Amino acid sequence: MYYPDDIIEKVRSANDIVDVIGRYVKIQKKGNSYFGLCPFHNEKSPSFSVSQSKQMYHCFGCTAGGNVITFLMQYENLTFQEAVKMLAERAGIELPEPEYSEEAKQKKDRRNRLMEVNKEAAKYFYYQLRAPQGKKGLDYFTERKLSEDTMKQFGLGYANVTSDDLAKYLKTKGFEDDLIIEAGLATFDEKYGLHDKFWNRVMFPIQDVTGKVIGFGGRVMGDAKPKYLNSPDTPVFDKSRNLYGLNFARSSRSKYFILCEGYMDVIAMHQAGFNMAVASLGTAFTAGQANLLRRYAEEVILAYDSDEAGIKAALRAIEILNEVDLTARVLSLEPYKDPDEFIKGLGRDEFMERISRAKNSFFFELEVLSRNYDLNDPESKTKFHNEIAKKLCAFTQEVKRDNYIEAVCDKYGIGPEAMRKLITSYAMKTGDVRPVERPKSGIAPKNAEGEGKRAVQRLFLTWIVDSPGIYQKVKKYVSPEDFTEEIFRKVAEVLFKQIESDSLNPASIISMFDDEESQKTAASVFNERLRSVESRSEKEKAFHDILYSLKKNSYDYYSSKLGSDVDALKQVIDGKKALEEINKIHISLEDEK
Ligand code: CTP
Ligand code: MN
Repeated sequence: MYYPDDIIEKVRSANDIVDVIGRYVKIQKKGNSYFGLCPFHNEKSPSFSVSQSKQMYHCFGCTAGGNVITFLMQYENLTFQEAVKMLAERAGIELPEPEYSEEAKQKKDRRNRLMEVNKEAAKYFYYQLRAPQGKKGLDYFTERKLSEDTMKQFGLGYANVTSDDLAKYLKTKGFEDDLIIEAGLATFDEKYGLHDKFWNRVMFPIQDVTGKVIGFGGRVMGDAKPKYLNSPDTPVFDKSRNLYGLNFARSSRSKYFILCEGYMDVIAMHQAGFNMAVASLGTAFTAGQANLLRRYAEEVILAYDSDEAGIKAALRAIEILNEVDLTARVLSLEPYKDPDEFIKGLGRDEFMERISRAKNSFFFELEVLSRNYDLNDPESKTKFHNEIAKKLCAFTQEVKRDNYIEAVCDKYGIGPEAMRKLITSYAMKTGDVRPVERPKSGIAPKNAEGEGKRAVQRLFLTWIVDSPGIYQKVKKYVSPEDFTEEIFRKVAEVLFKQIESDSLNPASIISMFDDEESQKTAASVFNERLRSVESRSEKEKAFHDILYSLKKNSYDYYSSKLGSDVDALKQVIDGKKALEEINKIHISLEDEK
């Protein structure tokens, strides 16, 4: 953090959130909050709310949320520091010269140097492709039907056959060995000294959303393996938080984005006019990337390879997209393998046609699931229908669930009444209508467990925020260390202190984080709505369960660290004792609202 916390808090509290947001968005007072159309996604009825008392905003539609600083960062695309500066000016507060700690300064300089060395390497590859020695690369791209303009737009390049020319070149430009190595452009070994990571490959520079080169992908020009080499993760290249093509797609103004698997797919689609296409970076699609997409689009159309691996990857991507409330549809590329080949084979108009016919992701999941069942056999068919019922339970919104019941029953010839009964019986069994375990055929979500643990930590904090009185009843069992998710741990630390001193101030907690994503995650704790339909005893049980899970997760977490972490033993011993006690106690919510 570059400005001291108290200055940030001073600036934040000097800018009333209703005033500030009111300048950008038309909001109207309704009850305790102000409502308006969300500026972060397209909508017809207002789900964007601003609370004057909490000094926070939240959108029920797209889950955007935070305090006044977050709003400016999100709306004006500013960094944390820039937003603070702007608000300070607005309120006539003079900011001190930003304090860069020595460490922060070094980190920033290092990042800048990494960006510079990447840029220089990209220029070098670019030049090689157009030089006589790069003819092989140029022929390769031409063969793959890329135009000069497209190659230029994507900054495509070529890494020579010689395996140390880039490193040598970069050294003449004043870049040190260790920097070149840290950027992943070269490696060092005793026998060959410093030698290039990429050689004899065509090169795809990978740009961040602002267009800065942060890494590379390199492809062999024949059938050798590995087909693609990618830069490793570096301080400037986080593969889970960037997307290939996003620097162009962000300004496409398209309501939907197309997500595909490969660099060549993105390039071919852009060349054919589909400038909203992006791809992950040689790794599986991540939640970080989904969050990134959500800033620009409402819907994602998946154009994954049509083979088994592509289908698996698509199922997983659907889950991740749904988790951040992005709708997904799936495009069929049959009989082609991927978008690049499809466009070459059938052209852009046919591709457009496929986009318009892209399948609702829920139906896509059912279709994949149905392959495990023999629908001519009543036994097997019944099992399939049961699985459908389970999946339908996952829709928490009634209208939506109803619409899906209708559509699914229609499609699979099931009586809607029988299906409703089945769903109700599942809902009763699980005590609630909520996400169910994924069926066998679907891919077991890798981080489902992690997500569950995060949810417990978030729910616990939400509960405490909603009814701070409960904290007193359970504080002897819970400490910030129980929150294994770093953001939640920090929130818990400050939140507990604020409650103890009777000065709960959610908006101040959010600006302890200086990036938008973390602010949003922190804000989620204050905006989550707890189900209000339950009776008090149900609530008490639910809270007890959350407390127990929180403590159990923490206990498991520290148990796994025994031996490597000196503090773990104390946590484990205390945790075990707390769990035993929690098992015995009853937490009354009688005096809570
Ligand atoms: N990939 C990778 N390493 C590999 C193979 C693939 O990083 N050894 C990544 C690349 O980002 C690639 C994407 O996975 O773009 C998709 O791979 P694949 O479907 O095999 O290749 P295509 O994109 O079809 O590549 P091409 O058309 O050039 O054969
Ligand atoms: Mn391909």
